[in-house]
Amino acid sequence: MKDDQPEKLYLRSLDVAQERRRELLRLFPEIETERGSIDFERLKLTLGEAVDAGKERFGLTWPGKADCFRTIQAPSLATLRPCREESVAFDTTENLIIEGDNLEVLKLLHKSYLGKVKMIYIDPPYNTGKDFIYPDNYTESLQTYLEYTGQVDSEGRKFGTNTDTDGRFHSKWLNMMYPRLYLARNLLREDGVIFVSCDDNEVHNLRGLMNEVFGEENFVATVVWQKKVSPANDSQWFSSDHDYVMVFARTKDVWRPSRLNRNDSQLAYYRNPDNDPRGPWNSATYTCNKTKAERPNLYYPIVNPNTHEEVWPKETAVWKHARDVTQENIEGNLLYWGSDGRARFPRLKMFLRDMSGVVPRSIWSYDDVGHTQGATLQVGDIVGSGAFDSPKPTRLVSRMISVSGCEDGLVLDFFAGSGTTAHAVLDLNRQDGGNRKFILVQLPEPTGREDYPTIADITKERVRRVIRKLTDEDAGKLDLDGGKKQDRGFRVFKLAESNFATWDADQAKDAEGLARQLELHIDHIREGRTGDDLLHEILLKSGFPLATAVEALELCGKTVHSVAGGALLICLDRALTLELIRAMAARTPERVVCLDEGFARNDQLKANAVQIFKTKGVSNFRTV
Ligand SMILES: C[S@@+](CC[C@H](N)C(=O)[O-])C[C@H]1O[C@@H](n2cnc3c(N)ncnc32)[C@H](O)[C@@H]1O
Repeated sequence: MKDDQPEKLYLRSLDVAQERRRELLRLFPEIETERGSIDFERLKLTLGEAVDAGKERFGLTWPGKADCFRTIQAPSLATLRPCREESVAFDTTENLIIEGDNLEVLKLLHKSYLGKVKMIYIDPPYNTGKDFIYPDNYTESLQTYLEYTGQVDSEGRKFGTNTDTDGRFHSKWLNMMYPRLYLARNLLREDGVIFVSCDDNEVHNLRGLMNEVFGEENFVATVVWQKKVSPANDSQWFSSDHDYVMVFARTKDVWRPSRLNRNDSQLAYYRNPDNDPRGPWNSATYTCNKTKAERPNLYYPIVNPNTHEEVWPKETAVWKHARDVTQENIEGNLLYWGSDGRARFPRLKMFLRDMSGVVPRSIWSYDDVGHTQGATLQVGDIVGSGAFDSPKPTRLVSRMISVSGCEDGLVLDFFAGSGTTAHAVLDLNRQDGGNRKFILVQLPEPTGREDYPTIADITKERVRRVIRKLTDEDAGKLDLDGGKKQDRGFRVFKLAESNFATWDADQAKDAEGLARQLELHIDHIREGRTGDDLLHEILLKSGFPLATAVEALELCGKTVHSVAGGALLICLDRALTLELIRAMAARTPERVVCLDEGFARNDQLKANAVQIFKTKGVSNFRTV
């Protein structure tokens, strides 16, 4: 049962390659070899002419691309440790702010959030030549993170910016982006959508990358966001006044954008010159450019009710609607004959109240969604000026969330920066009573400041202050939502080494090395880790979201954690008894997880537990 080492559990949960392999074997069972692997030559034969055997292929390639797949497949040896003291309303909220390298975090979220995210927004480093690009290393990615965050001694490794004098300038950025986008795609719901900010530094590569990861057929738009109010007059060539937002659907046939509310200039088209009780309206022509010969049923007279004259369309035109529809329009007072009632032809009234929203357009102006200058001032007002460079305007991210159609789903941002996405989610929920949740991931990138030592500190503090402000503003207001509470909290988690010591294959194989490893595995729970830490690691690796409600039960004087209404029971007690095992089994859970230490090397007790759980129909009993 000790096969439940975290990395093995993790392998089982994550292994994307295995998933693909199974899918292939389901489609082409004949390609399975005796050893269960894939006979590639046979697959080529099976596919016949569909295989492009030529050497020259179209597509994006760069040095390091092959390693990206190893990076994706390398199992994570990390965990996410809850941090209650930095959270807001930990026990009731479903929002998360996770401090850590997003690649490791995306891997850890993989099993629990597979196909659950409605909308992803990311604003990764643009690769301007001044950005820090996180150095992934698939062979020791957690080690890199621990060194980066000072959790272990670095052996003089440098973590610097990606400068354009570097021979692998674009490759480094692509190597950083590819695995993250790949893993992120798996988290999206079938009707999900991703928005990615970028500028001209990498827009061409990003398009190729997204085509490859999401499929060209799922491309939706490259939005141009006009981000500057005044030009940068000191530019040598052009003032770069815009950024891009690249939009890809998970499955374009399934996802549709939500229509947007009209802005002020669009609303200005709707007026009410005749004080119609149905409110403001716009009008449309009632004639159509077809001839009487082509559409004889649309050529007939309409009586102007003000002059009582019969009005005919021009010789070269007909009415838009047949007689019966026109009669309904007259009875419904939908024909407008001008301010003096004597216009040559009527127009059709279209009321604002009957209109659906407007389709999203591919140019977004700062009037509608804000500009960089305003965003910097906004974040400065919340967390202090100069704390964070180049945040995005909250209205820009709100616009994306609105277009995504997310009203009560999960929004993910794994390059969270100052936390604009959480701010947008909280604002939108307040505006329309929605129930959107957020997950933010942010590297604890050092800032050199005393007030906020890392960017992750800024993220958390901004969201705390936004929550406080919204809650203060709502205090004393009438409860129009019938007591429906908004989720104004977040749980903080921090990336760290797994709570369970893992067998280190690279350790010395001599007697001393082996003795050290065995020693570690007698009590394989890392020192200083709490029950809360273990509980959340087990939840995550059992495929439950981090915000799952867990009920603490008292059985035979010991604590047992009940998840998903008792479907999973977790017992972290280090002194299990037969009585307790029977009490857990009596609740007929589907799954049970106990600590290996709980059996205190009593193999008989463990064997009994296996038998008891089996008899009670527990399909999965594991020790960790
Ligand atoms: C351009 S900023 C995002 C700004 C954000 N949209 C806002 O409005 O505040 C990109 C952020 O990604 C973070 N970042 C870079 N590499 C990361 C990684 N590997 N994991 C997590 N965060 C990372 C950086 O620290 C930076 O804060």
